[in-house]
Amino acid sequence: MRFRDGTVVPALGQGSAGLGKGRHPQADEEEALRTGLSLGLTLIDTAEIYGSEKFIGRVIAGQRNRVFLVSKVWPNHVAGNGIARACEASLARLGTDHLDLYLLHWPNGVTDFSHVVRAFEDLHAAGKVRAWGVSNFNVRDMEKLFQIPQGDRCAINQVPYSLDDRGIERGLLPWCEQHGMPVMAYSPLGGPGASLLRDPTLARIGVAHGCSAAAVALAWIIRSGHVIAIPESGSVAHVKENAVALTLTLTPQELQTLDAAHPPPSR
Ligand SMILES: NC(=O)c1ccc[n+]([C@@H]2O[C@H](COP(=O)([O-])OP(=O)(O)OC[C@H]3O[C@@H](n4cnc5c(N)ncnc54)[C@H](OP(=O)(O)O)[C@@H]3O)[C@@H](O)[C@H]2O)c1
Repeated sequence: MRFRDGTVVPALGQGSAGLGKGRHPQADEEEALRTGLSLGLTLIDTAEIYGSEKFIGRVIAGQRNRVFLVSKVWPNHVAGNGIARACEASLARLGTDHLDLYLLHWPNGVTDFSHVVRAFEDLHAAGKVRAWGVSNFNVRDMEKLFQIPQGDRCAINQVPYSLDDRGIERGLLPWCEQHGMPVMAYSPLGGPGASLLRDPTLARIGVAHGCSAAAVALAWIIRSGHVIAIPESGSVAHVKENAVALTLTLTPQELQTLDAAHPPPSR
């Protein structure tokens, strides 16, 4: 997987919205993230509002260079020099001098995208962020962004996408493909609780490949090479299952079966 500027990005990453909050013992969660890093899930997604940046900083200490680190600024920090300040605070919590990717978390309430683009480009010029992008943008938001000078330097849009939530196939996914821009799929297993994994079709296809339903759900998301998936897990066993998706290719017949069980949206 590559950004349009040629930057190589892992196809599978690890989310962290629910990590560092006592859902699992902290040592287990740290071990889960480290296991993911060693199995190729080298993109780690966080955000200033998740409260997981310090936790991630501890996990990646000593191996920052192996990690493709993503964080996000919340829209209420956009005014004035708020983006630069929010970025410095994220860098301090993460214990690093740069982010590989910095995203605007939501467009809601942001009236001037050109101010955001300027702030992101300034951070890029200062070497604090290697690339920038957006999250939760719809097609209209993307078109507005691309009309702004340097708005088309946006590297990626992070949005919800899974077999249970195929809405972006109607407009946003084709739009991003036409513009050569990858998409980052959040909640790829159906969100907290991973409700999607109760689907018997996924389990059946998993049995045929000797892998879990989770690996099938993730392989489906990254099938085109244009979408990165960021499942979250605080469990070593689950991370190992998820990493199998990197080497799993679903057959055309299996893709049809999944389409029948989880129909694509009508255009
Ligand atoms: N930009 C945004 O607005 C936005 C919004 C939501 C999420 N995100 C990002 O996307 C990441 C992932 O999304 P998400 O957390 O909403 O949902 P998700 O990744 O679809 O699901 C997470 C859930 O799946 C479970 N899980 C993971 N692997 C599993 C496996 N192999 N078998 C069974 N269960 C498994 C996890 O539990 P265990 O820990 O027990 O494995 C957790 O309950 C977030 O952490 C965050 O970084 C971004």
